[in-house]
Amino acid sequence: MDTFEGLLHRSAHTYDASCTDAAHHGKSGKQPAMTRSAGFESPEAASAPRKTLEKIMKIVVIGGTGLIGSKVVKNLRGRGHDVIAASPASGVNTITGEGLSEALAGANVVVDLANSPSFEDAAVLEFFTTAGKNLFAAERAAGVQHHVALSVVGTDRLAQSGYFRGKIAQEKLIRESGVPYTIIHSTQFFEFLGGIAQSGGDGQTIRLSPAYFQPIASDDVGAAVADYAVEAPRNGIVEIAGPDRVRLADMVQRFLDATHDSRKVVADTGARYFGAELNDDTLVPGANPRLGALNFDAWFSQSQAAR
Ligand SMILES: NC(=O)c1ccc[n+]([C@@H]2O[C@H](COP(=O)([O-])OP(=O)(O)OC[C@H]3O[C@@H](n4cnc5c(N)ncnc54)[C@H](OP(=O)(O)O)[C@@H]3O)[C@@H](O)[C@H]2O)c1
Repeated sequence: MDTFEGLLHRSAHTYDASCTDAAHHGKSGKQPAMTRSAGFESPEAASAPRKTLEKIMKIVVIGGTGLIGSKVVKNLRGRGHDVIAASPASGVNTITGEGLSEALAGANVVVDLANSPSFEDAAVLEFFTTAGKNLFAAERAAGVQHHVALSVVGTDRLAQSGYFRGKIAQEKLIRESGVPYTIIHSTQFFEFLGGIAQSGGDGQTIRLSPAYFQPIASDDVGAAVADYAVEAPRNGIVEIAGPDRVRLADMVQRFLDATHDSRKVVADTGARYFGAELNDDTLVPGANPRLGALNFDAWFSQSQAAR
């Protein structure tokens, strides 16, 4: 695993992550098998107990109460890091700036997992632009050494969508911030399938694109984000995706059937994805993404068992 050597001088302690694997990966102590991009660990090495001494860091997770944020906070705390779960609920607001400089004081890493409360076009753009400006002013003042953000596979191909114009603006601010960074592009979460269904219309029949995508479980996303947060900044984009490439309309129908929802999906090549036209390449990752372990069936049984 890449270690974040540049942070050594600010790290008071080291921690052998192999000692408490059970605490990080559930009662079984098994780490989910994840595959890694070419040039990083082999799948075997990625699933083997960690031998690397991980430097203990102060890590601020913006949006630390959200779906992915709460998993990342739990994972990093389990590895011994000093983690702040920052969100308006805990008095840290990237839009008003409230609590930002206090939360970031002495922080090594900031992980931005916030999302816009409104998905209306202008509101999303305003959210990611204002949040990015406030966040980077505070990060530069605090001397933060690594900014990690979660975005979406294909963001640059989705500019017809107001939501994705917001994500494009967020990524531009990251690249121009002067703070070393890693942008993680994830495919759609399985947890978002209901939202995608909702986007296809109000009635009994919904229209969705049959374009390919490669959905991933939020547990796998959380584990990947936590790993990248403690590694060296890539100053570029890494991609993560689920194990199977499937057609979006088919997967949403499968989700509706599994949840005993009687709505029917009509595959429509002209149906837009949150305002953007899709083709079979738009939502899928490039070569060698890091792959999540959970396929739809495994995710669905796990999510049902947790209810
Ligand atoms: N959905 C997908 O399939 C998908 C795929 C790829 C990437 N992503 C990206 O993943 C990221 C995280 O998504 P998610 O589903 O985990 O989000 P989420 O569950 O909606 O959580 C959003 C978080 O943002 C926080 N937040 C809202 N306004 C804030 C503000 N002004 N200042 C600080 N924090 C604020 C919320 O805090 P409170 O709880 O206090 O309101 C909450 O913790 C998003 O950037 C999204 O673009 C999503």
